[in-house]
Amino acid sequence: MRPELRLGLAFAALFWGLASPGGTPVAAQEAGAVMIKGKPYVYDPDNAKDVMRTCAGCHGDLGAGGGGGVYPRLGGLNADYLAEQFHKFKTRERENIPMIPFAVDREVSEQDVLDVTRFLSEIKLDTKPPADLPADGYARLQVMKRVLVIPHEPGDVAAGKAFFAQDCAPCHGRNGEGRVKRPPLAAQHIPYLKAQVESFLSGKRGHDDLEILRAKTPADWANLWAFLSTLQD
Ligand code: HEC
Ligand code: HEC
Repeated sequence: MRPELRLGLAFAALFWGLASPGGTPVAAQEAGAVMIKGKPYVYDPDNAKDVMRTCAGCHGDLGAGGGGGVYPRLGGLNADYLAEQFHKFKTRERENIPMIPFAVDREVSEQDVLDVTRFLSEIKLDTKPPADLPADGYARLQVMKRVLVIPHEPGDVAAGKAFFAQDCAPCHGRNGEGRVKRPPLAAQHIPYLKAQVESFLSGKRGHDDLEILRAKTPADWANLWAFLSTLQD
């Protein structure tokens, strides 16, 4: 890029960074550097771990989620997706009563959001305990924090697979692995996913192609959950 153009972009990014209230300045990202209050953002892994202590109470130390599947898995999800959802909680575009006290600016700054979402995105979770699980109780507990358990759901897996392949795979990936800001539906807690579909149908949370979701019967949904619950096997 021509130096004067680069300078111009950097200046635009700086201006945008100052002018944009709250959210991640998009223009700044496009210019190559994310700006926070006019300063380039630099990842701080120690701060990420510090912020993660707040999230761990519900989402687990390594973001495996849990609480009977109420708290979603965050570990290994795309950082941009996670940050965008966090911003939606902040602005209340997406409702999340339990997280309100943790999402407000005073508690979690923009630096914190970018740090913790990057930290989470780099975690690799397992879906099965390792063969050599330590005998010691504490050590075993540490290993199990990395293990995401998705119990099987009853239903017709083949029918669920056909439903998914036709209507969901184009965005959520052939094996439900997700793509950038289209989150994975594989290896995600089913009770959490069910709650999200309820929110889409009631209009509490936005989703594309709502008509397709509305057209499904309870049996279709049961089959879909059955299929999704086998994807991490
Ligand atoms: C008091 C419990 C609680 C705490 C603490 C908490 N969360 Fe959450 N979080 C939830 C719940 C419940 C949901 C699911 C809300 C829903 O059903 O839409 C959620 C959802 C999310 C999602 C959306 C995931 C997705 O797939 O769309 C993100 C991102 C998230 N939390 C990030 C965080 C981060 C980062 C922290 C720490 C700063 C945190 N949460 C702290 C309860 C909590
Ligand atoms: C046109 C693309 C597209 C299609 C098709 C699509 N989705 Fe999505 N889906 C998305 C996007 C984008 C999001 C994230 C929405 C947001 O930003 O809050 C999402 C989110 C979700 C979530 C919430 C996941 C989470 O971690 O919070 C569920 C559940 C979901 N979709 C189910 C489905 C199902 C079931 C189908 C098939 C019937 C489907 N989607 C088809 C784009 C799509």
